[in-house]
Amino acid sequence: MVVEGQWEKREVLDVTASLEDRTVLVVGRGSGIARAVVLAARAQGARVVVAGRDAEALEAAYEDSGVTAEYLDVTDDATVEELARRLERVDHVVSTVSARARGRLEELDRASLLRSFDTKVVGPIMLAKAFAGRIPDGGSLTLFSGVAAFKPAVGYLGVATTNGAADFLARSLALEMAPVRVNAISPGVVDTGIWDSLGEDGKRAYFENLRARNPARRIGSVDDIAGAVLFAMTNPFLTGVTLRVDGGEPLT
Ligand SMILES: NC(=O)c1ccc[n+]([C@@H]2O[C@H](COP(=O)([O-])OP(=O)(O)OC[C@H]3O[C@@H](n4cnc5c(N)ncnc54)[C@H](OP(=O)(O)O)[C@@H]3O)[C@@H](O)[C@H]2O)c1
Repeated sequence: MVVEGQWEKREVLDVTASLEDRTVLVVGRGSGIARAVVLAARAQGARVVVAGRDAEALEAAYEDSGVTAEYLDVTDDATVEELARRLERVDHVVSTVSARARGRLEELDRASLLRSFDTKVVGPIMLAKAFAGRIPDGGSLTLFSGVAAFKPAVGYLGVATTNGAADFLARSLALEMAPVRVNAISPGVVDTGIWDSLGEDGKRAYFENLRARNPARRIGSVDDIAGAVLFAMTNPFLTGVTLRVDGGEPLT
């Protein structure tokens, strides 16, 4: 599609059409929210490259010739640069990576905080740097923040500050990478396995409590979140925002 601006005619990605024949890179694991994003993008006709620390497991997670798996560790710049070189051009990049540092203040240590920040903030910055010139105008980068950034709670200091940084990062990158669009998604609580550490009873009680209090009266599903990612990828006027898909949890 050719767009006639005030000064120039530019070739821009016709993202409103669909994801048909577009290439979408989804970074993360082969399950949870990342998987729902992959399946949603495939349903819209995109070719998907999934990338993460276990390429074999990723490959096995999708029996689909439209999904190819690549190795990537976002804390290792060489792997980020190598993947960018190999893929050459990608229309949309989605980073779901996370290594959360949970715990109360007295339980936190420097190593886990740095790992969390390195994974969810510095990693996506290096991903943005490597892919910036390979995403066409109007294409997108979607990052992940999280509800803890918008509703501080005891025991979630590390998670809140990391997700808060990811929220700011989306706005800064939207300016730096324009006219590539950059947004973040902030999920509320979704049962992807990350709450299993609470134990079966603890998880049930936690979910019941959230369900009873939040305005949506439910726990999120991976498809709720994937729908928001698709919207961020395909709405050509959306950039520099964090979409809070959290059932209104921060209002409670
Ligand atoms: N589920 C929720 O309730 C919830 C709530 C708020 C925010 N979020 C956010 O939503 C996103 C997806 O969440 P999720 O629950 O589906 O799964 P998740 O477990 O948070 O997924 C993140 C994945 O990132 C991968 N990863 C970690 N370090 C990496 C690295 N250095 N390089 C490449 N990959 C790396 C890990 O996969 P491997 O171990 O396979 O490498 C990990 O499973 C995350 O950003 C999460 O923080 C989720």
